Amino acid sequence: MEKDFLPLNGTDHIELYVSNAKQAAFFYQNAFGFETIAYKGLGTGSKTTESFVLKQDKIVLVLSSPLSGGTAIGQHIDKHGDGVKNIALWVDDAKSAFEETVKRGAEIDFEPLKLNDENGEIIIAGIKLYGDTAHVFVERKNYNGVFMPGYVGVTKQLNFEPIGLKYIDHMVANVDWGQMDTWVNFYKNTMGFSQLISFDDKDISTDYTALMSKVMSNGNGRVKFPINEPAKGKKKSQVEEYLQFYGGSGVQHIAMATDNIIETVTTLQNRGIDFLKVPSSYYEELKDRIGKIDEEIKVLAQLGILVDRDEDGYLLQIFTQPLQSRPTLFFEIIQRKGATSFGKGNFKALFEAIEREQAIRGTL
Ligand code: FE2
Repeated sequence: MEKDFLPLNGTDHIELYVSNAKQAAFFYQNAFGFETIAYKGLGTGSKTTESFVLKQDKIVLVLSSPLSGGTAIGQHIDKHGDGVKNIALWVDDAKSAFEETVKRGAEIDFEPLKLNDENGEIIIAGIKLYGDTAHVFVERKNYNGVFMPGYVGVTKQLNFEPIGLKYIDHMVANVDWGQMDTWVNFYKNTMGFSQLISFDDKDISTDYTALMSKVMSNGNGRVKFPINEPAKGKKKSQVEEYLQFYGGSGVQHIAMATDNIIETVTTLQNRGIDFLKVPSSYYEELKDRIGKIDEEIKVLAQLGILVDRDEDGYLLQIFTQPLQSRPTLFFEIIQRKGATSFGKGNFKALFEAIEREQAIRGTL
């Protein structure tokens, strides 16, 4: 087999540009159980940007806001609302990752940059993605600080209670009309990923909405990116709605894995997080479709958790409502019991649920 020219250890972190990082950090901490581990802002000599670094098991989110007008972050927020700016990938050699991908056609976001403090050195480099999104390669093998130079560790913890979120299972992009294959080819040729699955509009369509999707994975399977584009339907599809409100292509959802979805979702619902709901008829047909599972269907129905099966096992999943004012980014909570797929059997029920929400928003 050919040597992997872009070996990835996994997702390093995801940076969101948000309009009020202080309040967003409070939300993700208190609702989703993240711990704030590092910070930069006026108090640490960062005059232009305030960022909070939140962690739960292997998942790291960075929430950044500008401290004045006329900034690049501010422009991003004005165009897109709150959303994902950087998908940072953890590598052993950031310079090599940068050079190998640029050599294969990646557009440069920023050149390799060495960051130093008393805890060592981090090297980062960036390449451009769909819309205004970017991949940042992060090399941290010579660093033993909390996050990165420029940030200080947060020791005085506010209350937080983790909810069992473990790692990022996958992250989904919505790209513009006709752009899916462009980005599939980018991941294939520039990043060395391979295609796991594809769905066309016959798989994923309801009376109103249609979309196409292909799932790209890196060599060791630690990083997976499904990529959606809208397809022609009778009314405006959820991907079109996203593109309109996000102002173009971007990250649609981040799927986070848990070992106990019933506990995780119960806690989230008790903390006021809203999820997409499917009609009760979904659960009446479930047993025939799925066969035997460990969980009680009654409990799943109460919480609105969806189930799908493939040849390797089954999975449980649920989707939050959008997490900010614009109907753009949301989270998926997923528990895999053998299944390696993405819940194709739930697409129809799910899209009908999204359409009901779109109808309420008047954007169908
Ligand atoms: Fe997903």
